[in-house]
Formats: sequence, C-alpha cells, structure tokens
Amino acid sequence: MNFETLCIHTGVHKDTQYNSVITPIYPSSTFYWNDLETNSGYDYTRSGNPTRDALQENLAALEGGVGCVATSTGMSAVHCAMALFKPGDHIIAPADVYGGTFRLFSQYLTEKGLTFSFVDMTDLTAVHEAVEPTTAGVWIETPSNPMMKVIDLAAVVEIARQAGALTICDNTFLSPYLQRPLDFGVDVVMHSTTKYINGHSDVVGGAVISKTQEHADRVAWLCNALGLACSPFDAWLVLRGVKTLGCRMDAQQANAMKIARFLDEHPAVERVYYPGLESHPQHELAKTQQQGFGAMLSFDVKAGRSMAERVCMNSRLFDVAESLGGIESLISFPVTMSHASMSAEGRQAAGITDKTVRVSVGLEHSDDLIADLSQALAS
Ligand SMILES: Cc1ncc(COP(=O)(O)O)c(C=O)c1O
Repeated sequence: MNFETLCIHTGVHKDTQYNSVITPIYPSSTFYWNDLETNSGYDYTRSGNPTRDALQENLAALEGGVGCVATSTGMSAVHCAMALFKPGDHIIAPADVYGGTFRLFSQYLTEKGLTFSFVDMTDLTAVHEAVEPTTAGVWIETPSNPMMKVIDLAAVVEIARQAGALTICDNTFLSPYLQRPLDFGVDVVMHSTTKYINGHSDVVGGAVISKTQEHADRVAWLCNALGLACSPFDAWLVLRGVKTLGCRMDAQQANAMKIARFLDEHPAVERVYYPGLESHPQHELAKTQQQGFGAMLSFDVKAGRSMAERVCMNSRLFDVAESLGGIESLISFPVTMSHASMSAEGRQAAGITDKTVRVSVGLEHSDDLIADLSQALAS
C-alpha cells in the first residue's frame, strides 16, 4: 500500500461489536479476566491498550519497522530509546541536537554514567574521530534543530556499524512521509508525535520504532518497566492526526519553499537555513535521502538580536511559541526558547546565534504568511 493509504487504513477496525469505522478509545485502566488463566490479551493499560496498539501498528507501518511504542511525550521516547544503553557507554550526538535532548544527555544521563561527544555530524571525519572503544550508540537528528543541517544517514550508519554501535534517529522534523531512516540502515527511529505526526498542536506524545524484533521487544519492555506509555485518549488523537499527514506535509512544505525564497531575497535577512534552497550546503544530500524538504526553516537577520526579537514580536499570523509541525505557523527565538536549556557554548558550537529566528510553516495561504513576515521585517 502507498503511504497515504497506510496512514488511513492501518490500526483501524478494532471494533468487532459495532463495526465503527474509526478506532474507538478504550480509556479503561484495567481489563477483566475470563478466568484466572486467560484474558482478552489486555490486562492493564500501562502495559497494553487497544487504542495505543492501533497507533503503534500504524506508526510501525509508516516507518517500515517491526514494532513501535507510543509514549507520553517526545522526551519520554528519547528516554526510552536511550535506556537501551548502560553506564559506561559512549554516545556520539549532533552538536545542534534538540535542546531538551541535549539537556537529558549532558546532565541526567551523564550523571547516570553515560558519556557523550557532541560533534558537527555533517563532518563525517569528525564523527569518525569521535568513535571511542566504548562507543555504543550514535544519535542522529536530521535535519537538525534549528540550523537545518542534513546528516548523511547511510554514511553515519556505516561509521556506527564499523564501531559496533547502535544508531537512533530523531525523525521528528520530517516525519516518515518525507524520510524513512530505517531504509538507510538506522536501527531505531524516534519521534515527538507532538509535531507533524499529530499535526494539530493539541497533544504531546512520542514514539520509538525499531527495525528488528530484538530491539522492538527490548524497547517495549523498557516502556512498560519505566511507565512511559501514552494515554489511550492521546493515542486516539495522534491516530486521528496521522491520517492527514501526507497532504499536510505537501501543503506545508510548499509554503515553506515560497517563504524560504522570499526571505533569501530580503535585504534585512543575512542567511536562510532551508535544505530546499540550492544554496543550502546539503541540498543535494537532502534530495537523495528525503522525499521533500519539510516545513521548518531558520534565518539570521542582519541587524542582530533586537531585530530578531522585533521580527518575532511583530509578526501577527505567526504566534511566538515553542513547538512545530502544527497546521498553524509559529515563530520562535531559539536562544531564549527551544535552545535555552543548551549552554551558551553549546549554542555557539551549534551555530545558533542571537540573530537566529526559527519558523514552523503552517497551512495558511502562503501570500498571507509572506505579507506578514514582510511587515514584521520592515518593523
Ligand atoms: C526534534 C525534537 N525532538 C524531540 C522533541 C521533544 O518532544 P516533546 O516536546 O514532545 O517531548 C522535540 C520538541 O520540540 C523536538 O523538536
């Protein structure tokens, strides 16, 4: 089946009693047993729930994996995937990894005995040189947040394979509609389903999808043991959102392309970070491993911080807000918002400056969005 069909038809028809077309929500925390030996296959919702299973089936199919766990947030998905490692393991991660992931890695997981090297992963020599005898994992996030650097999936997987390390890819920015890391040899994919997969800014959630049964079983065990699974209602909302993923992404990335071109030619803008622009350093790579360029972009204004702040505060259609991937356009200032949890040195290494503005392009009409940015840039 094609992607759009899978989105709509996987994980449905769970209701054999009334034949509802839409997967029902089973909010029950517990399920009664037929006798002391047998039950319906469900006993307690932390461990398993039919609505959550429907979502997990759906997301595993979309990413081409064998198993999925749907978690309460994207960060719980990161935590779940990272629980595959043990103290003493060394992990290589991108220098401009999402700020919350950076905080978990550099503080909590470092306190728990894991070690990390944060490198510019567009530089394959740097990735290679970061490998240590204890390297057990390589964390990939591509395109990166907010600098939109594109990491060569196949090449990094090859370096990890030679090191005997597991690869995990945060695929939040593109969704499986535009990129399927497992097809490039990545072992585990994670998502903040809060973003494009749900797409309507009305739920926080996450997912971890595995390529092999061994990893799928371990991740499912960890998710239950750590208590990370999402609620049935949240699973139902995400399952509803994912049905329109393909057409939302098509429309949002078409808008993003127009906005990127507009910003690229604007005299107040120093630089635009969008892989769809021919000038983007990894434009050719993006064309080979992505099915599109996505709807996230960042730009540096020429006049520095006060200008960046004014653009954010004077835009009328773009709400100044964290998050991304919803149907409404958002604008943000990474230094005080998404990447505030990163140290100033960390931000500097990642290339995030106080003139960088990030935009999540929504489904509004592109003419209205461009007119709004135009007046904000003139302010
Ligand atoms: C790339 C990326 N990964 C993970 C997360 C964490 O997801 P959540 O906020 O759903 O916990 C985010 C959140 O912004 C993100 O942008």
